Parts: sequence; C-alpha cells; structure tokens
Amino acid sequence: MKLLILGSSGLLGSTLVPFLTSCGHEVKTHGRSDDAQYQADLSDPNDLAGLLDTVDHEVIVNLVGLTDVELCETKPNQAYLVNVRTVENLAAWIKRQESPPHLVHISTDQVYDGPGKHAENHVTLTNYYAFSKYAAELVAASVPATILRTNFFGRSRCRMRMSLADWLFHSLSRGEPIQVFDDVLFSPLSMTTLSKMIELSIKQQPDGLFNLGTHEGMSKADFAFAFADQLKLPTRTMTRTTIAQATFLKTYRPRDMRMDCAKFETRLGIGLPLLGSEIEQVANEYREVA
Ligand SMILES: NC(=O)c1ccc[n+]([C@@H]2O[C@H](COP(=O)([O-])OP(=O)(O)OC[C@H]3O[C@@H](n4cnc5c(N)ncnc54)[C@H](OP(=O)(O)O)[C@@H]3O)[C@@H](O)[C@H]2O)c1
Repeated sequence: MKLLILGSSGLLGSTLVPFLTSCGHEVKTHGRSDDAQYQADLSDPNDLAGLLDTVDHEVIVNLVGLTDVELCETKPNQAYLVNVRTVENLAAWIKRQESPPHLVHISTDQVYDGPGKHAENHVTLTNYYAFSKYAAELVAASVPATILRTNFFGRSRCRMRMSLADWLFHSLSRGEPIQVFDDVLFSPLSMTTLSKMIELSIKQQPDGLFNLGTHEGMSKADFAFAFADQLKLPTRTMTRTTIAQATFLKTYRPRDMRMDCAKFETRLGIGLPLLGSEIEQVANEYREVA
C-alpha cells in the first residue's frame, strides 16, 4: 500500500518505517529535518496541504507529537499546536477529499489514571500532555480513522531520542545510580510488536478508538528489574522509590496506565503478548549491541 508516515524521524517512526518498508509497502516519510523525505510544519494548514496534495498515499500514519510532558505543562499552547492543531489541519484536509485516505493516529496511555486495567471509556486527564492528546483523538475521530492509545519501549533507532530501555541499559551498564518507580504501572508493547499491530491496522482499517498494549502490566520498577535480569546487568545502583518522592518531576504523572486491550484483540482477531515476553524480546535487541 502507499503509506505516508507523519513524524517519521522520531522514536517510534525510526523503528516503524523500516518495518513497513520490509513488509513491501511504498513508504513516504515526513518530518521537519532532512532525515525525512518530505519536510512540513503541520501546525500550518498551508504547509500541510502542500505536503498532502503532493504525496500520493492511501493511508496516513500520524506519529507527530510533543511528547515532553514537562514542556506541555509549561507551554500549553505549544502542546495544542503540535498535538491538536496538526490533527485539526489533517482532518480538515481529509474532509475535503473525494476519496479520503484512512488515518492511523497514535495516542497515549497517559489519558488514564486510577486503578487499571482501563477500558477505552475510562479516561482521567491529569496533565496538559494527556489533555492535548485526548483533544487530538476527538478531532481524529471526525474522519475515517483508527486511533491507537498505546505506550512502547525498545532500543531506539532514532539519532535524536533515547528510549526508556536505552536509559536503563546505559545507566546500569555504567553503574550509574538510578531510581525506578514502584507506584507507576503501565502495559507497553515493544516497538517491534507495536509496528506489527500498526501494519495490521493499516491493512484492516478498523474505524474507532482502541487500547493497544500488553496483557498484564507491571510497575516501572518491576519492569526495570526484569529487563536488567534478562541481560544480567548489575542492579546494585538501581533503587526502588515512589513517584510521590521524586522531587525532580514537576508535572503530575498518572500512577496506573494499564490498559484493557480486549476491544483491539476482538476487532482485529489477534492476541496481544504478555509484558514479560516483550521484555525478553527487547533484551535481545540489546544483546546484538552488547
Ligand atoms: N514516546 C513514548 O513513550 C510514547 C508513549 C505513548 C504514546 N506516544 C505517542 O506516539 C507518537 C510518536 O511518539 P515518539 O516518541 O516517536 O515522538 P517523537 O520522537 O517526539 O517524534 C515526534 C515527531 O513529530 C514531529 N513533529 C513535532 N512537531 C511537529 C510539527 N509542528 N510539524 C511536523 N512534525 C512535527 C517531530 O519532527 P522532528 O523530527 O523534526 O522534531 C518528530 O518526527 C506520538 O503521538 C506520541 O504522543 C509516545
């Protein structure tokens, strides 16, 4: 299929693009830097129309985001421009088309808080990042779209971005002191599995909003220790703590973002993995570099 990936030079895009290409799709990449084939500031409707009028595509995958939670909190209008306005411009362009492309839009598990697992209608918004991503979902839902609420981890293939697993791997390998949270729970997929699920969504094009993560989540602390255990990394410099005690974080972070992904599994006819097996798979990505 002819695919246009918006925000392709970021963390997820750097894994997703090579995967989609390896599946035989014709992939066009957008970003703001030269790392992508096409450059455009999508918060500008003319820039966006210039891009979408030029590039032939059947499906658009939108990875654009301002993902820095602290920055979204201190600059809410910037969060709006990147996370919401870009999708408003995109939806407006799609509505003008005679044969509209299907949109696959990536959202976040940060729209949840309180005891999980959360079904799709269980939204609790606690910071501007979450608020802006939720607003973007509402806009994306006004066109034919698959909206995926997700979280992910894995070895970064992006020059500019370090992932959570990169941070754990490098800190523990160098014996640097780090703190991991016992009271933050999540259910992320590996970027490899997420890429496969995005490809499935491109093929099946289900309309609607879906949670997309692993079965059974765990705390970020248990995740960090399980990852270290897989790679036999020393853990003496890693301390369990709670996010309530983490004074270096200014903005509130949700405590429990674990998702109930039954809707995605049923609609797409696929079983999602356990987080433990995803950690095992990601550990292998680091064995390649160790
Ligand atoms: N990272 C996570 O752990 C996580 C978890 C859950 C959900 N998500 C969601 O997953 C998606 C991808 O995340 P990611 O971590 O890959 O993000 P990322 O690394 O920050 O990449 C975001 C991309 O958006 C582009 N972008 C930003 N502002 C733009 C604008 N005004 N016009 C055009 N492009 C713009 C950036 O371009 P440049 O390369 O030029 O800066 C970059 O390519 C996002 O929607 C995010 O909310 C992320």
